[in-house]
Amino acid sequence: MSDQRMNLELTSIIIFGASGDLTHRKLIPALFNSFCKGRLPEQFLILGTSRTEYSHDQFRDRLRSGVEEFTTMQCDDEQWTTFADQIWYLKGDVQAAEDYQSIDNFLSELEPSGANRLYYLATAPAIFPMIIENLGSQGLASSNKGWRRIVIEKPFGHDLNSALELNEIVHHVFQEDQVYRIDHYLGKETAQNILYFRFLNSIFEPIWNRNHIDHVQITVSETVDVEHRAGYYDQAGVMRDMFQNHLLQLLTLVAMEPPSAFRADEIRNEKVKVLSSVRKLHLDDTVQAQYEGYCDAEGVVEQSRTPTYAAIKLYVDNWRWQGVPFYLRSGKALQAKTSEIVIEFKPPPHVMFPLPDDYELTPNYLSLCIQPDEGIHLRFETKVPDSYQETRSVDMEFHYGTSFADGRLPDAYERLLIDALNGDASLFTRSDEIENAWAIIDPIIHGWEDVEGASDLRSYRVGTWGPQEADDFLAKDNRRWRLGCD
Ligand code: BG6
Repeated sequence: MSDQRMNLELTSIIIFGASGDLTHRKLIPALFNSFCKGRLPEQFLILGTSRTEYSHDQFRDRLRSGVEEFTTMQCDDEQWTTFADQIWYLKGDVQAAEDYQSIDNFLSELEPSGANRLYYLATAPAIFPMIIENLGSQGLASSNKGWRRIVIEKPFGHDLNSALELNEIVHHVFQEDQVYRIDHYLGKETAQNILYFRFLNSIFEPIWNRNHIDHVQITVSETVDVEHRAGYYDQAGVMRDMFQNHLLQLLTLVAMEPPSAFRADEIRNEKVKVLSSVRKLHLDDTVQAQYEGYCDAEGVVEQSRTPTYAAIKLYVDNWRWQGVPFYLRSGKALQAKTSEIVIEFKPPPHVMFPLPDDYELTPNYLSLCIQPDEGIHLRFETKVPDSYQETRSVDMEFHYGTSFADGRLPDAYERLLIDALNGDASLFTRSDEIENAWAIIDPIIHGWEDVEGASDLRSYRVGTWGPQEADDFLAKDNRRWRLGCD
């Protein structure tokens, strides 16, 4: 059945890939926190399934250690016991049709009067299609006794064609309003705040356009390297892993028009308009690089050409953004972990102050600090007191940590899971959004992957800000990378 609201009391959350990292690092801590905050449905159960052999208790113990290690909230033992009583485990092979019947039978025993069901795909992406098809063919996707929804982790496809195919498989079994494609960046408080900042204040939006903004930068840098994920990462690279989803989602939030209502479809319609307005990228507008030593990591193929860093320049061809470049960069093994968006404003049209000849004006820029020091900074020029003509750049700052009594921000998965349970898809990616994002990335990855493109792969030292070419890339436009959140 489609996603009609049914007033069923019990909701079952079924996690495929339950023995994996995501489940015990993110999903269960997020669900447990929501439980402690009283946000889970009053009656719920969680069923984990994977190929690993666990008893129910072994599974619960494993999850408990994850909660202790990764949760940011203190809940007492009693709360854990009540929560854990609702957790079950069933060994299963996603390839075996009969195992879906076992899941269904097991659940039916626990759901005597039926239940709503949220299926969560936390497995390797290669087996998403198989699970979805089996859920369909084994009758687990339909019911007249409660809603059925599916949460699909990233990456959604490997390129445009595979994303189109996956969407087709999904739509064979589920209607779009039953589908929740996750991008955890959208669950971050600071990412959600971009729209509130833009559209709940009247002072910024009038200057949020080509007349006042010189350019926009989006930086998502990480200090970690590929760690134990080389098997996946070496196939993906930074474009698929970070740009196609997180960076382009941040771009849509900065660039979109105000939606006519704060509802899933209205919001996503505007995001799609931004993505579909992005001018086709040329390889000249990209830099790709790999950190030194990447090829020595276990799981990386010999002489791998996978980029771990990229910088791109793109244009959004519409009235608001005509001529304004957006520079996006992301990489692993860099100097600092930060996700931030810098809006750099145009210089004043005329400066009448008697400034020294070598004076270099620092433009005003606004930094939206997504993480780790969440907040917003506005940099502007000021006269140094008791000087004749000296000026200095200073910051006006907002920090969550100081403005809110409990500065701790919830993990993105908390909000996303609750939204999926409540049927609110505003923070999830719609099928056309995914396809438009791939259409932007496709020419780059295919260009890089062909022989000539591959020769442009640069190298950078671990712990730096990436290759020199990335700085030159902006310097040739008379600009420089900025970090405004420290
Ligand atoms: C994931 C990527 O989607 O995002 C990882 O697969 C990356 O490679 C991670 O490390 C970054 O997320 P965050 O929230 O730490 O910025």
